[in-house]
Amino acid sequence: MKRLTLPCGETVPALGQGTWNIGDDPRQRAEEIATIRRGLDLGLTLIDTAEMYGDGRSERLVGDAIAGRRHEVFLVSKVYPHNAAPRAMRRACEASLRRLRVDTLDLYLLHWPGEVPLAETVEGFEALQREGKIRHWGVSNFDPQWMEDLWSLPGGEAAQVNQVLYNLGCRGVEWDLLPALRERHVPLMAYSPLDQARLLRRRELVAFARARGMTPAQLALAWLLAQDVIAIPKTGHAQRLEENFAALQRPLARDELAELDGLFAPPEGPTPLAML
Ligand SMILES: NC(=O)c1ccc[n+]([C@@H]2O[C@H](COP(=O)([O-])OP(=O)(O)OC[C@H]3O[C@@H](n4cnc5c(N)ncnc54)[C@H](OP(=O)(O)O)[C@@H]3O)[C@@H](O)[C@H]2O)c1
Repeated sequence: MKRLTLPCGETVPALGQGTWNIGDDPRQRAEEIATIRRGLDLGLTLIDTAEMYGDGRSERLVGDAIAGRRHEVFLVSKVYPHNAAPRAMRRACEASLRRLRVDTLDLYLLHWPGEVPLAETVEGFEALQREGKIRHWGVSNFDPQWMEDLWSLPGGEAAQVNQVLYNLGCRGVEWDLLPALRERHVPLMAYSPLDQARLLRRRELVAFARARGMTPAQLALAWLLAQDVIAIPKTGHAQRLEENFAALQRPLARDELAELDGLFAPPEGPTPLAML
């Protein structure tokens, strides 16, 4: 399994599991749980969830899926921006821990920047760390200016990742955000790596993948893996999870990456950070 190193020195798998919309349909529940557990078997041990997802339904389902296997998992959850001051953050974190039925989160992210001053959010994260409720913290949907603001604060350099929208069809972060993160050795965590499956219907991607005996999802993920980022595709189906996992076995060659640049152009200037 390809792994990336966090600023704290720990490593995490480059391919993880997203869980947005998981737990929403009771008829899918058994298969979704089996899929997450199959992912753990394969080494896809980074699981990303959030208090926001299905109003806690995603966290509850993840809790069921990892019951008895907590030690295998690098567990990531996120706090709403309106809960990002110390007292509200403690309450939000404790509720996430209860839904997940765990004692501690491995990584707790601010879901997106909001009204609460960043310094208070850092304080909140540090307090939760001291109490053992979270091991590490990071951010999500932070553009380069927000990252600079964070890094300029005391303790701000402890952010372990920035989770942002990044996929073959949405490459704006390559202009400024990704280089800035690389300079600080902070991994980018790519959400919606399949553009919520929209990418898989792009004709140029389908043709490129087919010509190489890959599926469109495998190509999209292999491309992200070549960018040295963490990708967290979501699927509720074990067969698709295995398909996605196989992207790790088919690294793209330099000429294939260059050809993909021709089909899905890298940015030619700064672009506002895209968000879902
Ligand atoms: N921080 C943020 O603001 C933020 C925002 C968005 C997402 N996220 C995180 O990132 C994760 C991934 O992003 P996402 O869920 O938005 O989108 P995504 O992973 O790009 O795409 C998920 C969609 O693709 C389908 N899919 C997965 N593998 C497939 C395959 N091999 N073939 C065909 N379809 C496939 C899934 O359907 P099935 O499930 O039916 O297979 C689902 O509809 C989320 O789950 C969440 O954890 C974070």
